[in-house]
Amino acid sequence: MEIKISPSVLAADFANLESELKKCENAEMIHFDVMDGHFVPNISIGIPVIAAMDKVCDKLFDVHLMISHPKKYVKAIADAGASIITFHEECDDDTNETIDEILACGCRAGLAIKPNTPADKVYPYLDKLSMVLVMTVEPGFGGQSFMESTMPKITQIREKSPQIDIQVDGGINAETIKTASRAGANVFVAGTAVFRSENPQNTINELKENAKSI
Ligand code: DX5
Ligand code: ZN
Repeated sequence: MEIKISPSVLAADFANLESELKKCENAEMIHFDVMDGHFVPNISIGIPVIAAMDKVCDKLFDVHLMISHPKKYVKAIADAGASIITFHEECDDDTNETIDEILACGCRAGLAIKPNTPADKVYPYLDKLSMVLVMTVEPGFGGQSFMESTMPKITQIREKSPQIDIQVDGGINAETIKTASRAGANVFVAGTAVFRSENPQNTINELKENAKSI
């Protein structure tokens, strides 16, 4: 599987987003966390920020919706520049309808599950999905510790679908990336590890090497 690194903007310096994204030239995509203060107890960035960043960054945008009603925002997020739109299985909208809306808007669809949601919740949708996101922390905040207890779910999903992208998000660093890669993940979100490091470009390379080294 191709290893992909998706630096999470949530840990970037919001006063200098353009230059922060320029430090990620060697990343495969950029991860945007959208929160509504309802699905998760936090509010982050939204559609106008994604649209502004799309004007100054050519990277593929990987948008993670931590919101209760993703379906009605899909079109606006696609128009803002998203290539992959991921929403949560635990949200209040119908999963099939939301995936169909993402595909109708010309984006790839991802489905996320929180640490306590079993892997089989994503199985009915695997044929339509490009990516499954197995959260390795409770969604809502950056800088939390990686939950190794989520690893068996990755292995279960990988057995069901050898080709699908499996993304992990939360507490990914040079060490935990090896554990997640060994379990079968191939797309790695990293916020703190990348943007709070001295040299994000070197960190991205190190993450890639460690993910491949297993
Ligand atoms: C958490 C977000 C993550 C977050 C990861 O709810 O989904 O994308 O930015 O941050 P780190 O890599 O610092 O754990
Ligand atoms: Zn995220």
